[in-house]
Amino acid sequence: MKLIHDEPLEGLREPGAPRASRAFVPTMGALHDGHRALIRQARGAVGPTGEVVVSIFVNPTQFGAGEDFDSYPRDLEGDLRVCEDEGVDIVYAPSARGVYGGNDDHGERVMVDPGPLGRQWEGAHRPGHFAGVLTVVSILLNQVRPNTALFGEKDYQQLELVRRMCRDLSIDVQIVGVPTVRDDDGLALSSRNINLDPDQRRAAATIPRALQAGQRAAADGSVAVLEAMDTVFAEAGLTPDYRALCAPDLGRAPEQGAGRLLVAVRIGRTRLIDNCPVELGGVHGR
Ligand code: PAJ
Repeated sequence: MKLIHDEPLEGLREPGAPRASRAFVPTMGALHDGHRALIRQARGAVGPTGEVVVSIFVNPTQFGAGEDFDSYPRDLEGDLRVCEDEGVDIVYAPSARGVYGGNDDHGERVMVDPGPLGRQWEGAHRPGHFAGVLTVVSILLNQVRPNTALFGEKDYQQLELVRRMCRDLSIDVQIVGVPTVRDDDGLALSSRNINLDPDQRRAAATIPRALQAGQRAAADGSVAVLEAMDTVFAEAGLTPDYRALCAPDLGRAPEQGAGRLLVAVRIGRTRLIDNCPVELGGVHGR
C-alpha cells in the first residue's frame, strides 16, 4: 500500500495509467464499517488488478463557523490499518495546501455552486456545506482521475448532488451509490457516533425506528408517513432539524411509488442524518 501526502501527486496523475482500472473512495477518515463497504465495492468494481484509491481529508470548506471541524475525529494510524486490511492500493492523505493550494477560504476562491438542491434540507441547516463538499470532490476527482467513485447512500443528498455535478459539469466519472451500513439496532454508522455517550447512543436508535415507522405507514400515503415518524420522535422527546419525504431524485414525492425519507436530528451536540427508501401506496391506491 502506498501512502501519499502532498508530494508525488504525479503518481496519481500518470498519463499512461489505464483509466478503466481506478476506483476512488473519498473520505474524511475515522474509518468504520460503512467506509469498508465502499472500499470493498471499489475493489469489486476494478477487480484484483485494478487500483483502489482512498482519500482521507477533513475538508475545512464544508464546515460552517461553530461546527465541529476542530473536534472532528482524526485517526490516521487507525485508518491506515483499515486500508491495509482492505487491500487498498493508494491512500491519499493531503494537507489543506495539497488540496487548495493554501487558499481554503470560502469567500476568496472559486467554488462549485450546488444550485437550489444545495440550499434544501442539509443545505438549509448548513449554509455553504454543499458548495464545500462539491468543490473538494471536484478537486479530488481531478487529482485522482478515477473512472469510478463510490459514495454512501447514508449521505443521500450529497450522493445526489455529486451525481448532478458530474452530469452538469461533464465530469467523466461513474458515480456508484452504496447502501447504508448500520449497527445491530439500526443506527447508521457514522464517524460522529463516537461522540455519543451511552444515553445519547440509546436515544440515537430512535432515528432508524422513526424511519421504519414511516416505511410501515407508506401504504397509507405521504401524510401517514410523516405522522408516523413524528409520533416516534415525539415519544422519544426528540425534535428533528427536518424530516422530509421526496422522490428518489429528491424532487417532489409522488402520490404513489418510490420515495425517499430524509431526516436530521441533534442529539446533545452531535448532529446525525439518515434516510431510507419508501414505497408509497397513496390513500386511494390501497
Ligand atoms: P465521510 O463522512 O468520511 O464519508 C465518506 C463516504 O462514506 C461518504 O460517501 C459517505 O456517504 C460514506 N458513508 C459514511 N457512513 C456510511 C455508512 N454507514 N454506510 C455507507 N456509507 C457510509 O462524506 C464525506 O466524508 C465527505 O463529505 C466527503 C465526500 C469525503 C467530501 O469531503
